Amino acid sequence: MTPPLAQDDLITWRKEFPILENTTYLVNHSLGAMPRKVVDALREYTDMWATRGIRAWAEGWWTSPVTTGDLLGRIINAPQGSVVMHQNVSVIQGLIASCFDFKSPRNRIVYTSMNFPTVMYVWEAQRRHGAEIVEVPSQDGIGIETQDLLDAIDERTLLVPISHVLFQSGYKQDLAAIVAHAHKVGALVVADCYQSTGTVPVDVQELDVDMACGGSVKWLCGGPGAGYLYVKPSLRDTLEPGLTGWMAHAAPFAFETGAQRYAEDAMRMLHGSPSVPAIYAARSGYEIIGEIGVEAIRNKSVRQTSRFLDNAADRGYTTLSPPDPERRGGTVTLQVEHAPAVVEALAARDILIDCRPAVGLRISPHFYTTDDELDHLLDSLDEILAKGLWQKHTSDQSAY
Ligand SMILES: Cc1ncc(COP(=O)(O)O)c(C=O)c1O
Repeated sequence: MTPPLAQDDLITWRKEFPILENTTYLVNHSLGAMPRKVVDALREYTDMWATRGIRAWAEGWWTSPVTTGDLLGRIINAPQGSVVMHQNVSVIQGLIASCFDFKSPRNRIVYTSMNFPTVMYVWEAQRRHGAEIVEVPSQDGIGIETQDLLDAIDERTLLVPISHVLFQSGYKQDLAAIVAHAHKVGALVVADCYQSTGTVPVDVQELDVDMACGGSVKWLCGGPGAGYLYVKPSLRDTLEPGLTGWMAHAAPFAFETGAQRYAEDAMRMLHGSPSVPAIYAARSGYEIIGEIGVEAIRNKSVRQTSRFLDNAADRGYTTLSPPDPERRGGTVTLQVEHAPAVVEALAARDILIDCRPAVGLRISPHFYTTDDELDHLLDSLDEILAKGLWQKHTSDQSAY
């Protein structure tokens, strides 16, 4: 068994996350733990509303999609003023789709069968506007052969909306190779970084990716309702989203009638009034991740997931996680019988993980996780399986 590391510096952050006091929290690929400071952030929001009233818009609310976008931008090395906040990835994909027409011969959308389904639903719906959808299959149900994807991207390809890290298996795609090839043939890449930002380094400028998006629910510990969209500024200035609104207007308070006159900065990627409370709630997580730095989080994640997989293998468990940490995000998987009931049996012991049909149990430590917690999960799993304790839990599907 690989021994635990005595203590790592990041453990000191545990006190900032109340749920860690009594829960073994290993479900960060689904919902990151809430930072204590979110309570203060939401109080600041309500205090502003209560005491400043309408003045709150001018005192930060109106520009919050961009100022908070900048906080997130620091984590993905986006230039100042190039990230805006939206509700979620689905809205963002719809907004991106609304920037394009799908005129032949460059009317193809190329994505993979391992995308998060919400992304597929949005692009499939573009068929009615002339889009041709090309879905690249997975050969093993875990990852996508990079060459298979590259072969599908050619001069007919308009956009490649793909996940950086795949939500089911945690497989990490070679985004740099995909972007380089797409650009060679004149296609644009939209990277869904929901499962990477906050745990795997993402540098949008180094990757030269055209657009990147994600949400804050998971590794960013930012809660729901706070999606982010980065668009390369040189591209952004040419885009005219059809899904638009007064916040995207060059002079919103002139209340001009008729056609949209787009703002000449990131505001042109917005539409109507922002989700201010969600934006306030998201900031604490961004601040903490920004302060720690994703490099340090990634180093710890690779060490802990490698140690965990070694220890699980010693105990006879199988995994579908890629053995090479370079091909893994922050999540690892284990296959067990009756996975949903096992998840419930663990939850009854305040050990939180989840499962998905194709990959079994999904387990994800974050920067605040101790090695002992991962050992505790394995000990508990051993006991639940050996004694058949999962049988008391009848669920055959994992909620959320
Ligand atoms: C890769 C990925 N994209 C998107 C989503 C969710 O999309 P939305 O923000 O529209 O809920 C998830 C998970 O919830 C995800 O893992």
